[in-house]
Amino acid sequence: MSVSKRFRRYLRPHLGRFAWACAAMLVVSAFNGFVVLLLKPIIDRIFIARDLAMLWLMVAVVPLLVLLKSAASYVQNYLMSWIGQRVVQQIREDLFLRLSSLPLEYFSGTRPAEVLSRVTGDLTLVQAALNTLPVYAIRDTLTVVFLTIALFHLDARFAALALLGAPVSLAILYVLSRKMRVSSRQAQIAVDRLHHRFRESVQGVLVVKAFNYEPTAAERFREENDSFFRPTMRYLRATALLSPLLEVGAGLVVAATLYFGGREVIAGRTTPGAFFAFLGGLVAAYAPIKNLARTNADAQRAWASAERLFGILDEKAAPADAGRPFPGLKSGIRLEGVGFRYPGAKSWALRGLDLEIPKGARVALVGPNGCGKSTLSRLLLRLHDPAEGRVLLDGVDAREYSAASIRARAGLVTPDAVLFNDTVFANVALGRSVATLSEVERACRLVGAAGFIEGLPEGYRTLLGDWGFTLSAGQRQLLALARVLIVDPELVVLDEATANLDGPAEKAVLAALETVLAGRTVVTVSHELRAVAGADRIAVMSGGAVVELGAHDRLMAAGGLYRRLFDLEDAARPAAEAE
Ligand SMILES: Nc1ncnc2c1ncn2[C@@H]1O[C@H](COP(=O)(O)OP(=O)(O)OP(=O)(O)O)[C@@H](O)[C@H]1O
Ligand SMILES: [Mg+2]
Repeated sequence: MSVSKRFRRYLRPHLGRFAWACAAMLVVSAFNGFVVLLLKPIIDRIFIARDLAMLWLMVAVVPLLVLLKSAASYVQNYLMSWIGQRVVQQIREDLFLRLSSLPLEYFSGTRPAEVLSRVTGDLTLVQAALNTLPVYAIRDTLTVVFLTIALFHLDARFAALALLGAPVSLAILYVLSRKMRVSSRQAQIAVDRLHHRFRESVQGVLVVKAFNYEPTAAERFREENDSFFRPTMRYLRATALLSPLLEVGAGLVVAATLYFGGREVIAGRTTPGAFFAFLGGLVAAYAPIKNLARTNADAQRAWASAERLFGILDEKAAPADAGRPFPGLKSGIRLEGVGFRYPGAKSWALRGLDLEIPKGARVALVGPNGCGKSTLSRLLLRLHDPAEGRVLLDGVDAREYSAASIRARAGLVTPDAVLFNDTVFANVALGRSVATLSEVERACRLVGAAGFIEGLPEGYRTLLGDWGFTLSAGQRQLLALARVLIVDPELVVLDEATANLDGPAEKAVLAALETVLAGRTVVTVSHELRAVAGADRIAVMSGGAVVELGAHDRLMAAGGLYRRLFDLEDAARPAAEAE
């Protein structure tokens, strides 16, 4: 959808207010356009003919006109700001909704950083533009039109002469605004990169310091900061050229008027009042024309930003979650020849994967880094759908069920334990909006998080800050585990869920989960083979497929990959610990 069509659609609900604002702008610009006509009677009648009655009339009329114009000006500004704010609010909301409806795959690679820079930088530019540009564009265009009418009314021949300057200024504007659009786009790309560097150096400050990366980071930043300078200067140079070029043109027009008009006055063919009114009209036209030229430049910039923002809105949302509701697992999950590839990735993350997960079983996924364990665990929640093969829930393709209804019965703990900038309570209650404080407390007690939470300044009401940075990695993980217990899931997927816990904490959590999760289906991803040795089935993955499957003893006896990984782990353990 084109940018202008989008804007029209956003404006549609506010057409009533917009009409009133336009009416107010009409009043303002009519005042600006016709006020120069007053110069003629003021000069001819008051100053030359010494007409006292006219003086009184003007003294009465001028304040009234100014009052009317000021009132209209207020209405226009208020209404246009109101509409601008509402439109931006709506765009912001649409962006948020669209982003949350996009499939998980959309957010792979460099996308997240790109999206963030658009919804901050570009949205700010569009907002600034919406606040001022429409007023300038409409009011000043109308003002120029009214001034032109006034000029023609005063002297059609001179007005036609002055109008000859118009094509020249339009040509100047056209060339300059093209330059501006190109350079502003380049500048925006450069500023995006700069923002990105800033974010990285703040978020990654620990690594930057630990590796003495400061000088290199500063050097790279300097280069990119420098690359911002040139396109910005090109933009600013074009902007700076505007005024002088227009001024030279305006000066020539005024000089010509002075020459021709002066001769007419001297010859007695026109009055001094008419001449000054005409000159006043020309001078009055300068400011709105300059405004329009500037408006045009800013509009070019905002247009480019709007294009990028609306690009997100044009992004295809994940297909509507139309499937029927998942009634709950009865016999088990079966993966048949499953293949999955991340967008843009050359190789398959999963390929030809077969696995059976009976209801109520404890299944462990093990294998080397990058073999596809996390990808597989996401497929179980329909966070991704397979590109090949099927995920069957009680023999029915999972795609026939709505993703939300599958996720409502499942709980996922990810290795990075994502927390939001909210209270401990809200973070744990995330999956069930109706959870009570006592339920949250119980879940936290079960995973052994209650102790540290009660030590926080405001207990469960403590704000965690962005990404839960106020907590240790293990504490974050405990909250992520409590979050899963709150939703009371049938299927629990623990992706390295205890990797950050100390020995005793891990043992306690696993024991607690053992009782709490009794009867539920649990899929555990772990790098510590000892921790999952008790699982009913251990699926050993390699290269995106399950290569060995069975209980610990059988896999050990088979002497394959599992045996090798287990022996390596054993060898790495300190002798004392190994008993
Ligand atoms: N968002 C992504 N975009 C592109 N490729 C990805 C993405 N996430 C994972 N991959 C690739 O898919 C493959 C499987 O990744 P996955 O995260 O499932 O491995 P894993 O078994 O969980 O590894 P680990 O033990 O290190 O957590 C890897 O080769 C990885 O490079
Ligand atoms: Mg993983």
